[in-house]
Amino acid sequence: MKKILLILVGVLMLVSAAAQNHPDWLKSAVFYQIYPSSFQDNDGNGIGDIKGIQSRLDYVQSLGVNAIWLNPIFKSAFCDGGYDVIDFYLVDPRFGTNTDLVELVKEVHKRGMHIVLDLVAGHSSAQNEWFKQSMEADANQHFSDYYIWTAIKPNDLTQQEASRWVEANAPRARYYIKNFYDCQPALNYGYANPSPSHPWEQSVDAPGPQAVVRELENIITFWLEKGIDGFRVDMASSLVKNDPDKSATIALWKKINGWFDNKFPEGVLIAEWFNPKQSIEGGFDIDFLRAGNLFSANMRGQTAPAKVYFDKAGEGSISNWYTSFKDQYESTLNKGYISVPTGNHDSPRIANSERNDSQQLKVAMTFFLTLPGIPFIYYGDEIGMRYIPNSPDIEGSRTRSGTRTPMQWDDSQNAGFSTAPKEKIYIPQDPDLNRPTVAKQDKDPDSQLNYVRTLLKLRASSAALGNDGEWKLVSDVNKPYPMVYIRRNGNEKYIIAINPSDKKVDAEFSTLNLNRVAYTLGTTSKCSYKAGKSVDTIKMPAVSAVIFKFE
Ligand code: GLC
Repeated sequence: MKKILLILVGVLMLVSAAAQNHPDWLKSAVFYQIYPSSFQDNDGNGIGDIKGIQSRLDYVQSLGVNAIWLNPIFKSAFCDGGYDVIDFYLVDPRFGTNTDLVELVKEVHKRGMHIVLDLVAGHSSAQNEWFKQSMEADANQHFSDYYIWTAIKPNDLTQQEASRWVEANAPRARYYIKNFYDCQPALNYGYANPSPSHPWEQSVDAPGPQAVVRELENIITFWLEKGIDGFRVDMASSLVKNDPDKSATIALWKKINGWFDNKFPEGVLIAEWFNPKQSIEGGFDIDFLRAGNLFSANMRGQTAPAKVYFDKAGEGSISNWYTSFKDQYESTLNKGYISVPTGNHDSPRIANSERNDSQQLKVAMTFFLTLPGIPFIYYGDEIGMRYIPNSPDIEGSRTRSGTRTPMQWDDSQNAGFSTAPKEKIYIPQDPDLNRPTVAKQDKDPDSQLNYVRTLLKLRASSAALGNDGEWKLVSDVNKPYPMVYIRRNGNEKYIIAINPSDKKVDAEFSTLNLNRVAYTLGTTSKCSYKAGKSVDTIKMPAVSAVIFKFE
C-alpha cells in the first residue's frame, strides 16, 4: 500500500513538473519583435531582409533584450503580410535563403540571445501545393484532407461560421473553410463534435487531421534542428473547429506541447491566443494579454469608445484591465508566462498624435517593463515611432500598415532603412522631419531609448522586477491616477507608480510598514513617498512614473 502511495506521489510530482516545463532562459527573457519587411533593407530593393536584420543585431542587443521574434519569413503570396504561407520549409526569397536564416541564428546565438519564428499553424496560402492538390477531384491523395471541403453550405450556420465558407467551385467541391482572408484556407485539425449530418466535419483523430498534426511537427522539427529556438504560434486557438469552450483545441495543444517539450526541452512555443488561462493549460510557455482600454479607445466588441487610461486627460479607468489581468496572472502563476507587449504588427502603436511626447512614452514604457511575465518590445517602440494614420493598405495590412512603417535609424535617406528610391519603400515612413531616430536618441542621455535601456538594466538586476517576481496592485482600483503596484521576490521589494495624466496626483493606501524607501528610477525624481502610521502616501507631478526600492 505504502509503495503504491509513493509511486502515486512520484507520478503526481512528475506531472506537475511537466506542467511547468519551461526552459530556464525564459526566467530572464526579454523579447524584441521584428517585422522583417520593415526593419533593415540590405539589398536595396525597399523591403527589409534577413541580412539587414543581421547587420542590426548589435543595436538589438544594446537595448538589453535577449530574444527576438520574427514575423513570418516563409515563402508567401503576401496577401496577409506573410501569414499566407506557400512553403513552410523555405524562407521567402525576398528575405533571403534558408542559409541566410541559419547564419542569422548563429549570429544571434553568438551574442547569447535566442530567436523564434512565426508559425502559422491554422492555415496556409491558397497557393500552397497542399491546397492545390486538395482541390483535385480525386479526394484520396496525400494532401486531400489537409483542408475542409464541402459540397453544400447549410442554411443553419451561425453568421460567424457562414463567413468562413468560401466559394471556390473546385473540382473537389464547391466550398472550403477559411481562417482569416479568403486566401488563407484553414488547415483541417478536425471538429470538436462532428455532426453526422455534416460529412465535412471530421473528428480530431481522423486520418486527415492526424496527418496535419504530423506535418506541423515536421515543420517545427525542421526549423528547431536548424537552430531556431521556437515559435510564436499564430491564431493558436483556431485549430479545432466548433470548439466554443476550446477544450478540444487545448487538448490538442497539450499533446503537441508534450511532444515538443520532450524533443526540444530548450525550445519555446508562444501562443497568440490572448487567453493565457487556456493556452498555458494547453502547455504553451507564453501567451499575450491585451492592454485593452489602457491604450486604445476602439476595442473590439465595444459600442462606445471607452476613455483611454494612458492619456493626459486623466479620465480613463483601469478596472476592466485590472480584473482581467489579475485573473489571468493569478490563474497562470508558476504555470506559464503572460506577456503584455508594448505593441505588435496588428494594433496601433503606443505613440500616436495625442500620445507622443517623450515624457508620456517613458511613463508607458515604465509600465510595460515593470510588469510580471515576459516583456515584448515591438520594434521602434523603444524610440517612440508613431502610428501613421492613412498609410496605404499593403499586402492585406488594411489599417495595420500605420504600425508597420520602416524602422527609423538616422537622418540619412529613408531614415537609414534602405538605399532604394523613396517611392520603392515597403510602406512610406513617418513624414515628420522631427521623426524619432535611433541615432538622435542614442546620443541623448535623456532620450526614451536610453530610458528603456536603463529600465531593462534595472529589471535584469532584480529578481523582484524580473519575470517571476510577484505583482500586486496596492492603490485603489477606482482611483487609478496614479496606479501603484508592488513587485517582490523574498525580501527584495519595489513599488512602481504610474501617472499618465497631466495633473499632480497622489495615492493613499494602507501602510506597507516600510523601514526604508529609496528612489531608484523614474521620469523625474520629484515624486515622494511618505510612510505613515496607518497610511502611506505617494505624490507625483503631472505625467510621471517612478520606481522606489523599499525594505
Ligand atoms: C494573426 C496575425 C495577423 C494575421 C492573422 C491571420 O492574428 O497576428 O497579422 O493577419 O493572424 O494569420
